[in-house]
Amino acid sequence: MERTLILIKPDGMQRGISFEILSRFERRGLRLAGLRLLQVSQDMAETHYGEHIGKPFFEGLVSYITSSPIIAAVFEGTDAVTAARTTMGGTKPTEANPGTIRGDFGLEIGRNVVHGSDSPESAEREIGIFFGDGSSLYDWGRDVDSWIFEDE
Ligand code: RTP
Ligand code: MG
Repeated sequence: MERTLILIKPDGMQRGISFEILSRFERRGLRLAGLRLLQVSQDMAETHYGEHIGKPFFEGLVSYITSSPIIAAVFEGTDAVTAARTTMGGTKPTEANPGTIRGDFGLEIGRNVVHGSDSPESAEREIGIFFGDGSSLYDWGRDVDSWIFEDE
């Protein structure tokens, strides 16, 4: 079962819409495998967003993601990475489709409320940053899974 890392960014926390956002992934059918409230350190932010080091928005991105506690969640399911990204909408909220999280809750690229891994490889790396050895992740089943996952 594919897994993806979701972060409720500081603007999602400050605006009090964190669980509204999480519920969209849950309602899509994705199964929650891990959940944490944490303050991202400078080191964690630079590791997580390492691919953007050197870009003009990097410092603003790091100060944004470290500016308040955030929620980190692992969701799993069929094509979880793609499913989560389509539920989130495009990076630039004004261009994100209505009905997506960013299309419904955002306006600015630097205040786009949610993060989702962009590939299964990124997901594995990012889950390692936020959940370490994975001992707090749960491999479990729901009674409804066979109504959501065709082969279960
Ligand atoms: P994320 O990693 O946070 O889920 O966002 P994403 O994949 O949709 O976008 P990505 O290219 O990975 O960029 C990471 C975050 O950096 C900020 N950004 N600002 N000013 C800019 O041109 C710019 N480009 C990216 C956004 O907050 C984006 O979510
Ligand atoms: Mg990204």
